[in-house]
This record gives sequence, structure tokens and C-alpha cells, in this order.
Amino acid sequence: MVYDVISILDFSRNEIMQLFDLTDKIRQILPKRRKIPILSGYTAALAFFEPSTRTRLSFELACKKLGMDTLTIIGESAISLMKGERFSDTIRMLDSYSDLILIRHPADGASRFAAEVAESPVINCGDGAHEHPTQALIDLYTIHKFKGNINNLTIGILGDVRFARTVVSLLRGLTLFDPKKVYIISPPFLHLRDVYRDELKKRGLNFEEKDSLLDVLPELDVLYVVRIQKERFPDPSDYEKVKGSYMVTHKIIKEYAKDDLIILHPLPRVEELALDIDNTKYAKYFDQAKFGIYVRIALITLIFGVQDKIS
Ligand code: CP
Repeated sequence: MVYDVISILDFSRNEIMQLFDLTDKIRQILPKRRKIPILSGYTAALAFFEPSTRTRLSFELACKKLGMDTLTIIGESAISLMKGERFSDTIRMLDSYSDLILIRHPADGASRFAAEVAESPVINCGDGAHEHPTQALIDLYTIHKFKGNINNLTIGILGDVRFARTVVSLLRGLTLFDPKKVYIISPPFLHLRDVYRDELKKRGLNFEEKDSLLDVLPELDVLYVVRIQKERFPDPSDYEKVKGSYMVTHKIIKEYAKDDLIILHPLPRVEELALDIDNTKYAKYFDQAKFGIYVRIALITLIFGVQDKIS
């Protein structure tokens, strides 16, 4: 099993399936036991230099359910980076105060850099427009649970595939499996970056890029929607041009989608996914967010090699 988690490609398919089995076990045990304190006495440092609801809270909860103590940084303003401290020195401090570093940062590659500085394991909780590997584990787990498999499915990924790091991680993760077809659907300005298109081709993913959801919606088993990542636009006027350029509504889904389509979203949503889908059979994004706690407990357990203590 992995030590640092920087990319979803740090995992093999077998390791992901092992993680899913452990996640299933934790989902059975935790509601009855409330805690599984097999890492009591260990400390996790959560260093979040960008906003987060789900990733930070579910990782903090996962650590606490395992009996770990947590140290938390939220934003740069409260720590000595503001006084000119080098980022590498901040990481060295976190490394000396903790046994696990969880980092979210606006710069691509910040987690890789932290992993090179730190001796403790580092988990990338989202670095710029690069990757969000634990979100991809949750996305793949959710597909696996609701569809019974990841292979042989037709999966549509809709939205800002240019800047969304969850999309990069999910697409890379799908290359470890054998989906029937992946449609990458986005307005022209938000198309996939060339570097990732080339990589997916090299890795043999059967994918096609489309501009319109309606062209492919009737074929889909899974629809994964992402918001436009406003904070990543170098020029804010470009955001204004594409804002509101796609929206999934219950009406469209009811009219064109398969009866057993599932809709996922890493959240937060803005205006790309209508609220009227929330209470329909298609909506699985709140289940997906809840699975995040269990997947993250399983991941930390495997990183520390204490999975045999879960019974
Ligand atoms: N999915 C996700 O990364 O959500 P947060 O930004 O709230 O952590």
C-alpha cells in the first residue's frame, strides 16, 4: 500500500479494491462502535491553505474516529508564512509535530514538494488544478457501490474539465479500470488540457470529448458533474464569459437519461446542478460525500498498516 498519496496513480487497481473492501467493513462496524481507536496517540496535521468543507471535516473526523489527535491550519494568515517563513520550514514543523500531514494548497505540485520535505506520510487533499486523489477514491467507491462495478460502464464527466482537479484524478483513476466509454463534456473554453488528453490516450482510456450533454445523455450509466472553478481563472473576465454555460435539471434527466442513471458531484455545487434533482433516485452526491468519511478512515488505516486491527 502507498505511503504518500499525491496522485490517484500512486495506487494499483488491486490496492483500490483492497481499500474498498476495508471501507465496506468500516461502514458496517463504525455506526455500532462509534470509534475504532486503533491509532490512539498518533497526531495528524491538517494544513489547509484553501477553503474546504468536505475534505477537511471528513479527514478530521476520520482521524478522530481512529483515536488520533489533530492539529489544524486554516489559511496562511494565522501562521508564520505571513511573516515570511519558507513553505518548506512550515512543512518541517508539521513533520516534527505530527505523524501524518494532510495538505490542501492552491499551487500544483505543493503536496509533492511537501512529501519530499517531510518524513511522515503526506496526503494530497487537492493541489491547484492538478489532483485530488482521495476525492477520486470516493468517486470510484460510489460508482462501485451503486453500479456493482466500474468496468463496462458508460460514464459522462460534465463541466469545467480544464481546471477541476477532481476530474484529473477521476480520469486517471478510470485508466486503472475498464469502463466501456468515457465522455468528457464541456463548453469549448473549458476543454481538457492537452497534457492530460495525451496522457489518457497513452494510458488507453476509451474516451471522447463532446460539447453537448444531450448528445450522450441517453447512453450514460453515470453522470459526474463539476462546477466552474472560478478561483482558477487567470482572467476573471473569462469566468464571466462561461458562467452558467451548463446546467443539469430534473427535466432534462427525466426526458433523456436512462432510468438507472446515477449523478455524482464532488461538491460544492454552484449553479450547474439544479436543486430539483436532490430528492430524486438519480442523486447520489450526498451519499458520495458521506462515503468520504469511511474511505478516508480506510485510507489512513492502510497507510499505517493497522488494517488487521479492525474487526
Ligand atoms: N469535494 C471537495 O473537495 O470538497 P471541499 O472543497 O469542500 O473539500
